[in-house]
Amino acid sequence: MEKIVIKTSDSVSDILVGEGWEMVHELLPESGVAILTDENIYRIYGDKFPGFPVFQVRPGESSKKLRVVESLAGELLEAGIDRDGLILGIGGGVVCDLAGFLASIYMRGIRCAYVSASLLSQVDASTGGKNGVNLEGAKNVLGCFKQPEFVICDPLMLETLPEEEYYSGLAELIKTALIGDSKLFEFIENNHAGISRRDPGLLSMCISMAVNFKAAVVTEDEKETGLRRILNFGHTYGHAMEMFKSYRHGYAVAAGMELASGFSLSRGMITREEHERITGLLKSYGLLLSHDIPDDQITQLIMKDKKKSGNDINFVFLNGIGKAVAEKITVKEAAEFYIRSKPAK
Ligand SMILES: NC(=O)c1ccc[n+]([C@@H]2O[C@H](COP(=O)([O-])OP(=O)(O)OC[C@H]3O[C@@H](n4cnc5c(N)ncnc54)[C@H](O)[C@@H]3O)[C@@H](O)[C@H]2O)c1
Repeated sequence: MEKIVIKTSDSVSDILVGEGWEMVHELLPESGVAILTDENIYRIYGDKFPGFPVFQVRPGESSKKLRVVESLAGELLEAGIDRDGLILGIGGGVVCDLAGFLASIYMRGIRCAYVSASLLSQVDASTGGKNGVNLEGAKNVLGCFKQPEFVICDPLMLETLPEEEYYSGLAELIKTALIGDSKLFEFIENNHAGISRRDPGLLSMCISMAVNFKAAVVTEDEKETGLRRILNFGHTYGHAMEMFKSYRHGYAVAAGMELASGFSLSRGMITREEHERITGLLKSYGLLLSHDIPDDQITQLIMKDKKKSGNDINFVFLNGIGKAVAEKITVKEAAEFYIRSKPAK
């Protein structure tokens, strides 16, 4: 497996990309491990889990809440997990976010690690150290930074991922290419057939390019005070769409990226040809769903973004394919661009 190291001020996290997640037992201590997973993952992969107690949550976003964290903490106590313990999350972004959050607060913090099972979590959620749970209607409002000791990203696990989840993750991969790696963008353009059939060799290369980029960004800006903001490309409109339309995260981000690319074009930051390449790629993977947020609701939806400060947001623009910059604009400007760019009825 390829090893990519993320170093921050007080931690080192190894991201292992390649086939063979079952070797995870070699990386674990002999005792004190609790495995957190969801019911889908357990059904498919449970028989290959290392021999430690397993705690399952219901699949999906509804498990990312404090009540679930509280109940899991009680189960860890009962199982005798103490300060030397380690929580191993095996699952997608929901399981990794929950495992990281729980490990951050249980006994004032214990170790954690992940086997990252969805494409979205392999290219984004499980690396970087952010975790969080939702409050009613507001995503990831409670959370913190905690680097996992290691993360395994095995492309073979993606074979069992439902179609919609796979493409939702692909949108986040395209996001990484757009903000930081023009070679990755070309790679995704040129390997359409292989990526669509989930070729593990090609996927390993994509995941590794994405993790390398994220590692560089996180190493420079662990706590999201500057550079790391560019990882939110497509998310201003994306979150609005997620709330309004209940699209899967990646599809909402894809629509948000098309808009943000159009916004960048309108400011002369990218060329029309680049904009067309971007929308062409998103379309070719079936990622562009229609959306029509009413004019009187878009401002309110953007205001709900937790990245907002006062009436301003850090909006991420493209400065070419593979380069991004976050700029403060008003919520009003972002809403006006959305309204302007809607097709005439
Ligand atoms: N912490 C971060 O930096 C960060 C970044 C991006 C997203 N996130 C979070 O990640 C979450 C979304 O992650 P997700 O899309 O992985 O969602 P998820 O964990 O809910 O997984 C999606 C679905 O796919 C199933 N699944 C996952 N891997 C599978 C596999 N290999 N085979 C079969 N089924 C599988 C799950 O059981 C679930 O039903 C959101 O809560 C989001 O807020 C966090």
